[in-house]
Amino acid sequence: MELLIKGARIIDWRQDITSDVYIKNGTIQDIGNNIQVDCKIIEAKGLALLPSFVDMHCHFREPGFEYKEDLLSGNLAAVRGGYTAVNLMANTNPVCSNMEVVNYVLNRAKEIGLIDVHQSVSITNGFDGHSIYHLDNIDESVKIISDDGNGVENNRVMLQAMLKAVEKNLIIMSHAEDRELSLYDTALSENISTIRDIELANYTKARLHMAHVSTKEALQYIIDGKRKGINITCEVAPHHIALDNSTEYKVNPPLRNKEDVNFLIEGIKQGWVDVIATDHAPHSALDKEKGLPGISGLETAFSVCFTKLVKEKHISLNKLSELMSKNPANIMRLNKGQIKKGYDGDLVIVDLEKMYHIDISKFASKGKNTPFDKSKVWGSIEATIKAGEIIYSREGLYDS
Ligand code: DOR
Repeated sequence: MELLIKGARIIDWRQDITSDVYIKNGTIQDIGNNIQVDCKIIEAKGLALLPSFVDMHCHFREPGFEYKEDLLSGNLAAVRGGYTAVNLMANTNPVCSNMEVVNYVLNRAKEIGLIDVHQSVSITNGFDGHSIYHLDNIDESVKIISDDGNGVENNRVMLQAMLKAVEKNLIIMSHAEDRELSLYDTALSENISTIRDIELANYTKARLHMAHVSTKEALQYIIDGKRKGINITCEVAPHHIALDNSTEYKVNPPLRNKEDVNFLIEGIKQGWVDVIATDHAPHSALDKEKGLPGISGLETAFSVCFTKLVKEKHISLNKLSELMSKNPANIMRLNKGQIKKGYDGDLVIVDLEKMYHIDISKFASKGKNTPFDKSKVWGSIEATIKAGEIIYSREGLYDS
C-alpha cells in the first residue's frame, strides 16, 4: 500500500510546513518537496495534514450494551472524527476484568480492521470495589487499568492496585470520584479523590493518569504533584473546556463553572495538561431520558477543540496536535502522533477554513447524545488515513 499526499500544510507538535508526504508499507517513508512516485496520489493543496488523533478514553459498549454502540459503529465514529487509535474503557457487560473479554474485543476489532483498538481492564474485579487478584492474569496487550465510570473508593484497595500496576508496568487511569461525597458536592468528590490518588502515586511510584479533569482544584493538585516530580499525566475532555454549567447536559464529571473552565484552558496553555481525550460515552435517547451521564464525543472533538482553543487564539494548532496525537501516543507507547519518517502512516486531512454546523443525523456513532448538536464549528475532517490507506473520506471525497 503506497500513498502520496501532495502539497498539504503539514502540522504536528513541532512543524508547520508545506510539503509532500509519502507512505509505504504502513509507515511514513519520505517528507519533502516534489516527491515523485507512481502510486495513489491525493492533491491536498490548501488543506492541513495532521497526525491522526489518539483517544485514550472512550466507551464502545461491546460486549453488553450494543444498543448504545458496538465495535463497528464505534470504529466508524472514530474514523469520522479523525482517530486511528482508541483505548476502550472496561464498563461493559460483563465488565472487562479478564483476558477473555479483552481478547473478544481485540479480535472483533481486528475483524473490522479499521483502527487500532486497545482495551483497558478494570482495576477491581467486575467493579466490585475490592478485589484485584484478576490483575495477575492479564497480559502485556493491556496497558491501562481503570474503573472509569466508578471511582475506586477504598484507599487500601487503590494502594494495592497501584503496587500491582508498578509490578506489571500498567498505567492507572483514575476516574476521580467518591460517590458518597458526590451526593453532597461533585467537585469536592473529584478534588478529594484526586489528591488521594496523587498521594498514593507518590507513595507507590505508580504511573498515574487522571481522567477527565474538570475542576480548578483538581488540576491545581495535579500541577503541584507534577512540580514535585510525581509521575502523573492528565487529560481534559472537549466538553469541559468548551462548555460551562450554563449549558444543561448530564455528564460525569458535570459541566463546571466558568472559573473552572478558564483554569483548565490556562492549564492547557501553560503545558500542565497532557492530553485531550473524548470520554466518548454514547447512550440511547431513552437512557439519556433516564438520566445516564455521557456525551458522544468522537465525531466532534477536533472541531470543538479547534474552534474553542485555536480559533479563539488560546493555543496554536501545533499544541492541539500535541494534545490530541503526540502525547496520548507517547503515553500509550505507540509509534504514532508525529509526521516524521519511520512513524506510522496514520494521518488526518482537515479543512481548517471550513465552517459547518454539527449535525447528529450524520453521526456514525449510535449515540446521538451531544450538547453540541447544531453548534457552529470550524475544521472539517476531510479524510482519515491508516497505515497509508484511506479509511474514511467525507462524502467519499477520495474514494478511488
Ligand atoms: O459521563 C460519563 N459517562 N462519565 C463516565 O465516567 C462514564 C461514562 C459512561 O460510561 O457513560
